[in-house]
Amino acid sequence: MNVLVAGSHGQVGQHVTASLANSDHDVRGMVRKESQASDIESIGAEPVVADLTGDVSHAVEGVDAVIFAAGSGGEDVWGVDRDGAIGLVDEAESRSVDRFVLLSSINADQPENSPEALREYLRAKGEADEYLRESDLTYTIVRPGPLTDEDGTGRIKTGRNLDRDGVDIPREDVARTLVAALGEAETHETTFELAAGDDQIEEALRSPVEN
Ligand SMILES: NC(=O)c1ccc[n+]([C@@H]2O[C@H](COP(=O)([O-])OP(=O)(O)OC[C@H]3O[C@@H](n4cnc5c(N)ncnc54)[C@H](OP(=O)(O)O)[C@@H]3O)[C@@H](O)[C@H]2O)c1
Repeated sequence: MNVLVAGSHGQVGQHVTASLANSDHDVRGMVRKESQASDIESIGAEPVVADLTGDVSHAVEGVDAVIFAAGSGGEDVWGVDRDGAIGLVDEAESRSVDRFVLLSSINADQPENSPEALREYLRAKGEADEYLRESDLTYTIVRPGPLTDEDGTGRIKTGRNLDRDGVDIPREDVARTLVAALGEAETHETTFELAAGDDQIEEALRSPVEN
């Protein structure tokens, strides 16, 4: 597949891009600034400069699947986390892209259970998730707990509603999960929470919403 990674230069996005570049997939990495393009090339991907708050049509042209790993970092939650994702969903739909894997967040469906400072961001994420679910795309929505910079272990747990104790997960394992979900039919049309765990990623993704 020819896969577009939105947020390719981000911390999760770079792991996603590298993982795809080392696979049978072709990968196009979306960056906001021309100066980031050489980093994407050195990972082994084709860079494309596009901003999620603007026109992304050229980035989507010719791709079979999208992995959305971008995020506002809290600065423009409505413009990037909600409308940026929605714009990319629309563009993917209009270009007959079939597959869309969206990096969301734990509690995107229940912002009221998170600290006040995170609620607006989580509402924006939740609205983007809902929009993707209602689209014609074959979606997977992945909702990890807090991300860490520890080395990945390749082991995760997934579920519809995970116990909130110990839901941290290394970014590297989130990235591997997003990439593995691309080819796992059991993740089609599912939304699941994600944390570090005991199961191999591929095994966990065969029944992602149990729990
Ligand atoms: N942090 C957590 O604990 C946590 C938990 C659950 C879910 N998440 C989700 O995971 C996402 C990825 O995390 P991360 O640590 O990899 O974040 P990150 O390093 O901040 O990466 C986000 C990427 O999105 C890009 N981006 C932002 N605005 C954009 C725009 N308008 N157009 C195009 N690209 C844009 C950024 O581009 P630049 O490089 O140009 O800034 C950056 O490359 C977060 O954004 C969040 O939604 C995070």
